[in-house]
Amino acid sequence: MYSCIGLAFVLLLGCGVLQSDATVAEVLDEKNKTCIYAEMMVNFTVQYETSNSTPSTAEFVLPTNVTTAGSSCGNETVAPFLKISFGNGHYWSINFTHSNTSYHGDVFIFGYNVSDSTIFHNASQKGVIKVVANDTMPPVPMDHYYRCMSDNVFKQGNVTQTFWNVSIQAYIRDGNRSKDATVCSADTPTTVAPVTNITTVAPVTNVTTAAPTVTPKPTPTPKPDKETYKVFRGNETCLIITMGLQFNYSTTAQAPWEVKNIEPNVTTASGACGGNTSTIILNERDTVYLVFSFATRSSKTFYLKGVNVTTVVNGSAQQLGINNNLSYWEATLGSSYMCNKDQVFKVTDKLYINTYDLRVQPFNVTNGKYSTAEECFLDSDLSFLVPVAVGVALGFLIILVLISYLIGRRKSRTGYQSV
Ligand SMILES: *[C@@H]1O[C@H](CO)[C@@H](O)[C@H](O)[C@H]1NC(C)=O
Ligand SMILES: *[C@@H]1O[C@H](CO)[C@@H](O)[C@H](O)[C@H]1NC(C)=O
Ligand SMILES: *[C@@H]1O[C@H](CO)[C@@H](O)[C@H](O)[C@H]1NC(C)=O
Ligand SMILES: *[C@@H]1O[C@H](CO)[C@@H](O)[C@H](O)[C@H]1NC(C)=O
Ligand SMILES: *[C@@H]1O[C@H](CO)[C@@H](O)[C@H](O)[C@H]1NC(C)=O
Ligand SMILES: *[C@@H]1O[C@H](CO)[C@@H](O)[C@H](O)[C@H]1NC(C)=O
Ligand SMILES: *[C@@H]1O[C@H](CO)[C@@H](O)[C@H](O)[C@H]1NC(C)=O
Ligand SMILES: *[C@@H]1O[C@H](CO)[C@@H](O)[C@H](O)[C@H]1NC(C)=O
Ligand SMILES: *[C@@H]1O[C@H](CO)[C@@H](O)[C@H](O)[C@H]1NC(C)=O
Ligand SMILES: *[C@@H]1O[C@H](CO)[C@@H](O)[C@H](O)[C@H]1NC(C)=O
Ligand SMILES: *[C@@H]1O[C@H](CO)[C@@H](O)[C@H](O)[C@H]1NC(C)=O
Ligand SMILES: *[C@@H]1O[C@H](CO)[C@@H](O)[C@H](O)[C@H]1NC(C)=O
Repeated sequence: MYSCIGLAFVLLLGCGVLQSDATVAEVLDEKNKTCIYAEMMVNFTVQYETSNSTPSTAEFVLPTNVTTAGSSCGNETVAPFLKISFGNGHYWSINFTHSNTSYHGDVFIFGYNVSDSTIFHNASQKGVIKVVANDTMPPVPMDHYYRCMSDNVFKQGNVTQTFWNVSIQAYIRDGNRSKDATVCSADTPTTVAPVTNITTVAPVTNVTTAAPTVTPKPTPTPKPDKETYKVFRGNETCLIITMGLQFNYSTTAQAPWEVKNIEPNVTTASGACGGNTSTIILNERDTVYLVFSFATRSSKTFYLKGVNVTTVVNGSAQQLGINNNLSYWEATLGSSYMCNKDQVFKVTDKLYINTYDLRVQPFNVTNGKYSTAEECFLDSDLSFLVPVAVGVALGFLIILVLISYLIGRRKSRTGYQSV
C-alpha cells in the first residue's frame, strides 16, 4: 500500500542542515524516496550523579548533524521507525502506528550515553540510559504532516525533553511530502473567533489537540475568563454559578480534539428552577449552548446530573455531547459547592468540561447570594492525608474484624448465636 514496503533495503541517510537550525531527519525507502520526514528542535536536560556523588545537570540540544541508521519505512507487519542518532552514542527514536485514515506516533525513546564525557562530566554511571514515553502526537490524517511550533515539554524522572518547531510526517507516499498540516492545539489560538463564524475558524478535522482515545488535559493557556451567571425565578435569583469554563470535544472518531473557551462577555444565561431540578442554559453568541441540569438526592444534597452541549454550525445544530447520568459537584442543600482547583469532568468519550474557580448553588439561594461553601476535596489542605487515612481505616477495619471475631467466639461459647 505504501511505497516504503520492503524495509530490508531501506537506505538511511543523515540529512544536512536546513533553515533555522531545526534538525532534519529523513528515512528513505529502497527507491531513495522519502517515507518518514522529521524536522524539529529539542532541548534535553538530564540530571545525573557524578563520581563524587554530587548531582549534576547536563543540558544539550539535538544537533543538526544526525544520522538515521537503524530507521525503517515499515511494512504490513513492522511499524515505521525513525531513529535519530547524534553525538557520542545518543539517540532519539519514535515508531508510528496507523488506522485506515490516520496515523500517530506510538512510543518515543530517548537514549543518552552517560559515558560521553563531553556532556556528562565525571558521571558515576556508564553506558546508555533509555527513557521511554508514549507519544502524545494526536492522530494525523494520512497524507498530512503534524506541526507544532509551540514548546512541548516532557518530564520524566531525571530527564526533561522540550520540543519545538516540530514537523513530522510518516507513511509518505511516493516520496511526496504533504503540504497539509495538522496543527497542535498549542499553536491554535482558541479565543480569537469572529463574532458570527465561531465554528468555522478552523476545519474540525484539521486542528488537533489530543488523541481521541486519550483523556484531554485542561489546556493551561489561555484560561477561560471567570464569570458569575444567574437564573431568576420572578425577580429572585434561584441559581448562581461562577466559573471559568472550557470544554474539549471531538466530533468523530478520527477528528482531533478541539478546545473551546466560553467567553463571558458574549454569553447569556437563562434557565429554570424547580424543587428537585434546576437548569441553567449558557448561550454564547447563539452558536454554543451548554445546559447544566442539577438534581437533589434524598432531599439532602444536590449534584450536577446532566450536561448537554450543542453548537450551531451554518444554521444547523450539532450535538457535541449529552449525558444525564452524571454525579458531579455534590454538596448539602442550603450550601454551595466550591472548587478552586482546575478540574476536568468527563461528559462523554468525546466531550470533557474543564472548570476553573468553580462555585455553584442551584437550590435554596437566599438574597441572590451564595450560602456557605462546601469545598471540593482537591482544595483541601488535607488531601495529602488520603494515604494515611486509608491506612488508618484499614488498620481499624482489621481490629474491628478481630474484635467481632473474638466476641462471636465468646458468644457462641456461652451458648448465644453469633451475629
Ligand atoms: C540511492 O542513493 C544512493 C546514494 O545516495 C545510491 O548509491 C543508490 O544507488 C540509490 N539507489 C537507487 C535505487 O536509486
Ligand atoms: C536519577 O539519577 C539518580 C542519580 O543521579 C539515580 O539514582 C536515579 O535512579 C535516577 N532516577 C531515575 C528515575 O532514573
Ligand atoms: C557529523 O557527525 C559525525 C559523527 O557523528 C562526524 O564524524 C562529522 O564530522 C560531523 N559533521 C559535521 C559537519 O559536524
Ligand atoms: C513501538 O515501540 C514500542 C517499544 O519499542 C513497542 O512496545 C510498540 O509495540 C511499538 N509500536 C508499534 C506500533 O510497533
Ligand atoms: C571531575 O573530576 C576531576 C578529577 O577527578 C576533577 O578535577 C573535576 O573538577 C571534576 N569535574 C567536575 C565537573 O566535577
Ligand atoms: C522555528 O523555525 C522557524 C523557521 O522554520 C524559525 O524562523 C524560528 O526561529 C524557529 N523558532 C525557534 C524558537 O527557534
Ligand atoms: C460566515 O461563514 C459563511 C460561510 O462559511 C459566510 O458565508 C459568511 O459570510 C460568514 N459570515 C461572516 C460574518 O464572516
Ligand atoms: C484538511 O485541510 C485541507 C486544506 O488545508 C483539506 O484539503 C483537507 O480536505 C482537510 N482534511 C480533512 C480531513 O478535512
Ligand atoms: C420581588 O417582587 C415582589 C413583588 O412582586 C416584591 O414584593 C419584592 O420586594 C421583590 N423583591 C426584590 C428583591 O426586588
Ligand atoms: C470579550 O472579552 C475579551 C477579553 O476578555 C475581549 O478580547 C473581547 O474583545 C471581548 N468581546 C466583546 C464582544 O466585547
Ligand atoms: C440539548 O440542548 C439543545 C440546545 O439547548 C436542545 O435543543 C436539545 O433539545 C437538548 N437535548 C436534550 C436531549 O435535552
Ligand atoms: C431548600 O428549599 C426547599 C424548598 O425549595 C426547602 O423545603 C428546604 O427545606 C430547603 N433546604 C434548606 C437546607 O434550606
